[in-house]
Amino acid sequence: MLDRINGLFEEAKLAIAKATTSESLYEVKVRYLGKQGSFSGILKEMGKLTPDDRKTIGKRANEVRDELESLYLSKESGLKRSELNSRLEKERLDITLPGEKRMVGSDHLVVRVTRELCEIFGRIGFSVRLGPHIEKDFFNFDALNIGPDHASRDMQDTFYIDDGVERKTGEFSPWILRTHTSPVQIRSMMTEKPPLRIMSPGGVYRSDSDVSHSPHFHQVEGFVVDENVSMADLKGTLGFFAREFFGSEVKVRLRPSFFPFVEPGAEFDASCPLCKQKGCSMCKGSGWIEIGGSGMIHPNVFKSAGIEYPKYNGFAFGMGIERIAIVKYGVTHIGAFTENDTRFLEQFRS
Ligand code: DAH
Repeated sequence: MLDRINGLFEEAKLAIAKATTSESLYEVKVRYLGKQGSFSGILKEMGKLTPDDRKTIGKRANEVRDELESLYLSKESGLKRSELNSRLEKERLDITLPGEKRMVGSDHLVVRVTRELCEIFGRIGFSVRLGPHIEKDFFNFDALNIGPDHASRDMQDTFYIDDGVERKTGEFSPWILRTHTSPVQIRSMMTEKPPLRIMSPGGVYRSDSDVSHSPHFHQVEGFVVDENVSMADLKGTLGFFAREFFGSEVKVRLRPSFFPFVEPGAEFDASCPLCKQKGCSMCKGSGWIEIGGSGMIHPNVFKSAGIEYPKYNGFAFGMGIERIAIVKYGVTHIGAFTENDTRFLEQFRS
């Protein structure tokens, strides 16, 4: 029996030494020292021995068990320590490393100016409505008193959508890319009741392009429909916009002009904010800069939109967003709006 004990001792020592994880070490412990383990089996047989043998063999068995127990404990603490170390190594974090640099984008100048406009007109009670870029010929032209023979319908200016329907020569396709933001006037008047104070920014399309024209640019439309609206209200509104947008010293003037959807119609100019009317290249020495078109809404427009006129009347105005951005921020090259050169874009970080 002594031989079996010593044999098991050697076997168990080897198994402990070979264990590489605390889990497999625990299995070794269960196999040799557990209740159902090999040693317990031998100790159960001790009853059959003579008292002398029991004394010597019992002593040896206790020694072996104590020794295995302590071998187990020291191996276990060694394995646990190295397991912890390798886990910590995996989770190692060097807090002195420089952080990851993230690129932060900036608003496009058109977006920034659009936001400024919404904010400025919002302060005097205007709310924003948007319209579709693919527009019906009716909203873009007919309803705005632009008859079928009007020059702005010319194929030169308007992008027509080919909807696959065959039409006779001279007959217009009902779908186009809107050439201005004015159709939003009609859409709003048809769906909302006066009083209306609405502004509508957005992209427009014209099929001309040269150094000073782009086929896609942005406009803002503004209009008021109420009782007893006057030209003075129009001028007051444009003056407020010009002072808030360009600077408090800027004045506005109206010059008689023609647009089919207003009567009377006027172009409006702002006193040059860059040279303060001393004369510069932006105002071409005149001290004034053309900003947009405006006027009192034409009775035919109210008629097509179903607004009761003359109980209600109103004014409207429209201007180019790139145009006023150029004046305010001194942009000299219109390509800058579409080339996406980050050196240009980054200047307008807000
Ligand atoms: N829709 C005109 C254009 O694209 C701009 C304009 C002129 C708008 C006069 C108006 C207006 O509301 O009254 O050139």
